[in-house]
Amino acid sequence: MTELVRMEDVTFAYTNSRTPVLQAINVHVDYAEFVGIVGPSGCGKSTLLRLMSGLLKPTSGRVLFRGEPLNGPNQRISMMFQSPTLLPWLTVIDNVVLPLRARRDITDEQRSELAMRFLDLTGLSGYERAYPRELSGGMQQRVALARALISLPDLLLLDEPFSNLDPLTALALIREIEHMWYDSSLPPASVVLVSHNVDEIVQLSDRIIVLKGRPATVTAEIKVELERPRVRRSPEFLSIVDDVIVLMGN
Ligand SMILES: Nc1ncnc2c1ncn2[C@@H]1O[C@H](COP(=O)(O)OP(=O)(O)OP(=O)(O)O)[C@@H](O)[C@H]1O
Ligand SMILES: [Mg+2]
Repeated sequence: MTELVRMEDVTFAYTNSRTPVLQAINVHVDYAEFVGIVGPSGCGKSTLLRLMSGLLKPTSGRVLFRGEPLNGPNQRISMMFQSPTLLPWLTVIDNVVLPLRARRDITDEQRSELAMRFLDLTGLSGYERAYPRELSGGMQQRVALARALISLPDLLLLDEPFSNLDPLTALALIREIEHMWYDSSLPPASVVLVSHNVDEIVQLSDRIIVLKGRPATVTAEIKVELERPRVRRSPEFLSIVDDVIVLMGN
């Protein structure tokens, strides 16, 4: 399998702090892989995603994306957060095309076509001209998903994107992200998901990384070899959920 991202011996400290948040982190994400990250609150999961996206630079060590050092944000990497972070003064479609704004190689027509395609895929057809405040939380998160996908990223980084949604809405969105990831004709190729919800993580991940300690290190990695679609109440599923919970607590 080809590797998409690799973090090599990454240590990171915020400038106003002496002790690092993350230390000696070695993780990789393969092409077409779905990786889950779990760990206690405040241990550095969001920091790790920001390093992987190029938004933050390691204090030491390096991050490679497709074999090249990652020096800042990259069009081929998108991120989605807990809250949708839409611009309230822009319509749905204008929010979705934002990542393509600076792209000279794309015409206005191509931009709108791509936007319509991803609005359709995320179930938002008909809402192009609506404003974020007119939409429910789940629909706003769909807009954020369409916006994350419009640049056709290889890698989608998800930082607890379902945790503010009611369980049914969350489940619908999880299914759609899994479907898009699974369909090799659609972006993204690979996904990294941070979540406190172990069920969600086991449902989606090929591999689960447990982050723990202060500074945090990778304390465990679990391969999930259940067939997809996964049955949440099967004994095999529940046994992996238990394993993850035990590893998080130890
Ligand atoms: N901008 C910042 N400046 C200084 N310290 C920060 C900054 N952002 C986060 N931290 C600190 O870094 C540590 C890790 O934070 P981070 O947000 O990465 O954790 P997390 O695992 O994502 O937490 P949660 O599960 O609550 O989302 C915390 O102690 C936090 O206080
Ligand atoms: Mg976080």
